[in-house]
Amino acid sequence: MSLLKRLGTTQDLTGNSQKSPNQQQQGTQKPGTGGGGQGKPAGGTGQQSSQTEQRDPQSGGSGELGALRRPNIGTQQQPGTAQQQQQQKSDNFNDLKSRIQNRLISELDPRMDLGNQEEVRRTVEETFASVLEAEHIVLTRVERMRLFESISAEILGYGPIEPLLKDDSVSEVMVNGPRQTYVERAGRLERTDVTFQDDDHVMRVIDRIVSPLGRRIDESSPMVDARLPDGSRINAVIPPISLVGPTLTIRKFSKDPLTSDDLVRFGTLTPEIVTFLKACVEGRLNIIVSGGTGSGKTTMLNVLSSFIPDDERIVTMENAAELQLRQDHVVTLESRPANIEGKGEVSIQDLVVNSLRMRPDRVVVGECRSGETLDMLQAMNTGHDGSLTTVHSNGPRDTLSRLETMCLMAGYDLPIRAIREQIASAVDLILHQSRMKDGSRRVTYITEVQGMEGDVIVLQDVFTFEQTGQENGKIIGSIKPTGIRPKFIERFESHSIYLPPNIFGTSYERMF
Ligand SMILES: Nc1ncnc2c1ncn2[C@@H]1O[C@H](COP(=O)(O)OP(=O)(O)OP(=O)(O)O)[C@@H](O)[C@H]1O
Ligand SMILES: [Mg+2]
Repeated sequence: MSLLKRLGTTQDLTGNSQKSPNQQQQGTQKPGTGGGGQGKPAGGTGQQSSQTEQRDPQSGGSGELGALRRPNIGTQQQPGTAQQQQQQKSDNFNDLKSRIQNRLISELDPRMDLGNQEEVRRTVEETFASVLEAEHIVLTRVERMRLFESISAEILGYGPIEPLLKDDSVSEVMVNGPRQTYVERAGRLERTDVTFQDDDHVMRVIDRIVSPLGRRIDESSPMVDARLPDGSRINAVIPPISLVGPTLTIRKFSKDPLTSDDLVRFGTLTPEIVTFLKACVEGRLNIIVSGGTGSGKTTMLNVLSSFIPDDERIVTMENAAELQLRQDHVVTLESRPANIEGKGEVSIQDLVVNSLRMRPDRVVVGECRSGETLDMLQAMNTGHDGSLTTVHSNGPRDTLSRLETMCLMAGYDLPIRAIREQIASAVDLILHQSRMKDGSRRVTYITEVQGMEGDVIVLQDVFTFEQTGQENGKIIGSIKPTGIRPKFIERFESHSIYLPPNIFGTSYERMF
């Protein structure tokens, strides 16, 4: 992608407020065409300097810098609310940024190789310093760094969301059009003051993310699911499907995935349950992790997979590879969407079918969403026990209905009873998670699938979450045994796995 295309035209950057809504609309409809072909850099300089001259008087003579330091100074108005002042300050900053950025673009060589990030950064840094000097702009060290980081994020990174992606306390970034960006921190959603200039600006960032991945997003294919080189999962939806402007959701890849110890620390699990789950995985139970969106299913799947013994061959299949297994013998497969001609799709279902020819000891499927469920159940039933997957659902019983529905999606005309029998004999355990109101993730049910009674699949809760109260908005409670010993425990003996009996609630604590 050329330098100009990365940043849009100079007109885009400085004159967006002058664009007619119609023009903006056009820009949105043709993402990535953001003016890459418009004019040579020299033209940009001429245009830029005349714009700068026109804009200076509006900003109160002292230029944006003065206003940046003293909010409202150029406008002679009554001081507004803190929010207005903040807005004014951010507008001034954006003005200054656009101005410097445009000068910078016009001075940089448009044929510069953007692949060599280090060199580009150095060149940008040098040009930035000379532009500031030429414009007689004096900034404090902090202002100067902020401005430079913001401009280099536009050139080298992902624009306004770059700092959020670098911030380790942020686990998810959600851009809802140019004016709204939310993040998730410690399980809670927060609105940030990050904004984009307009729809085109968001589009350019989305384009920059998806095009190096060989993916395309435009009006004819307005949704993209992909994975960044660092492993983060991204989803983008643009107009006309999204009515709020282009949207982008990034689930950041955590370099250090959460471990069972972390989950105990967060109160998601207890040490006893970790022992129990470890035994279940080593004892080759087929386990379904279920829960709502963002409830921590993939994280739990990763933790469960970490209990798979080292000497087993694991094949993992996902839409966007998120699992991070530490074992040596792991084959990671990722599905692929169809190309522009509608060809070349490799679905999770294809992968599941294929994986059975790869001599796996364990099959781990990131998420069952449709017809692949039937193949997964068959794999579980035909010698690939100890398989793991996740399903979106609202509770253990709902997990069964979801499994049924997804089996029907495979397209075979199977009677519902046959499907239920498959489910009952394939699945041993359902571990259900919830994202609580306070942002914490809790395991709310660990339920054994015991078999069929008539037409009904029999479920037996082994552990359930009990809420005991609330303190400062935090949910107090823990997951407790129901007192029922699961039937599959007998199978553990053949694997020489023995669990202390009090794990299932026969301890003194429960008796009194
Ligand atoms: N037990 C936990 N405690 C705190 N945070 C957690 C826990 N489990 C997961 N998370 C965090 O919650 C976010 C969502 O986790 P994860 O991707 O595992 O959810 P998911 O249910 O698979 O989501 P999706 O439905 O979108 O696939 C991540 O940022 C993760 O770090
Ligand atoms: Mg997931």
